[in-house]
Amino acid sequence: MDRFNVVNLLDFIDVEGLESASKLLSDFSCPLNKEIENFAHKNALEFANRKISMTYLVLTESGDMVGFFSLTHKAIQVKRDILSSTSRRRMERYANLDESTGCYTVSAFLIAQLSKNFTSFNNLQITGDELMELIFDVLGDLQRRIGGGVTFLECEEKPQLLKFYRHGKFSFMDFATRYSERENTKYIQLLRFF
Ligand SMILES: CC(C)(COP(=O)(O)OP(=O)(O)OC[C@H]1O[C@@H](n2cnc3c(N)ncnc32)[C@H](O)[C@@H]1OP(=O)(O)O)[C@@H](O)C(=O)NCCC(=O)NCCS
Repeated sequence: MDRFNVVNLLDFIDVEGLESASKLLSDFSCPLNKEIENFAHKNALEFANRKISMTYLVLTESGDMVGFFSLTHKAIQVKRDILSSTSRRRMERYANLDESTGCYTVSAFLIAQLSKNFTSFNNLQITGDELMELIFDVLGDLQRRIGGGVTFLECEEKPQLLKFYRHGKFSFMDFATRYSERENTKYIQLLRFF
């Protein structure tokens, strides 16, 4: 996928300057998910500077932003009961089982945001699978550097999105649900081993 360049937001700022980075992010549009659009417009820069999560811009050769994703890491709890015996063996490489609760606690990579850019000029040049492939290139590099083997994400209960995660090229599996405190929105939590 040489037609796209994945650039760490802070590296982009070092080379191109803060103004160019702000412009790319403020031009980002995602009518399907205003939360992601808001993140790009209001949080991505601050979160990167404060190392809360790191944003990666996906750019064409001519510098158009076709999408972005943001990564961080977080401990999660996964019930032993929901995993197959193969998945339990894989989990046990990275996790501790608390016998009293029947839950594994594992430090996992979190795909905190991912989205194509829906601004009309870029004409949707990337697919979800391509975006995910670029994400796992970055995560694969992290894994080689520091270890780890579990990746997770959270998704609203939307059938098409869930289909993309569960049955797409990268097949994530459900492991829990969570309700956001403020809006009481339900999120399905999904994980994947490398
Ligand atoms: C998720 C995403 C990367 C998948 O890309 P893709 O595999 O190439 O699939 P598409 O963009 O063609 O989307 C597939 C279908 O899901 C729908 N869809 C995608 N994101 C959606 C969302 N957030 N809410 C509702 N429907 C959504 C699309 O409208 C499309 O519907 P259609 O088949 O009826 O046209 C891309 O759709 C995207 O960037 N969505 C917006 C951001 C987003 O929701 N990110 C995930 C947050 S958990």
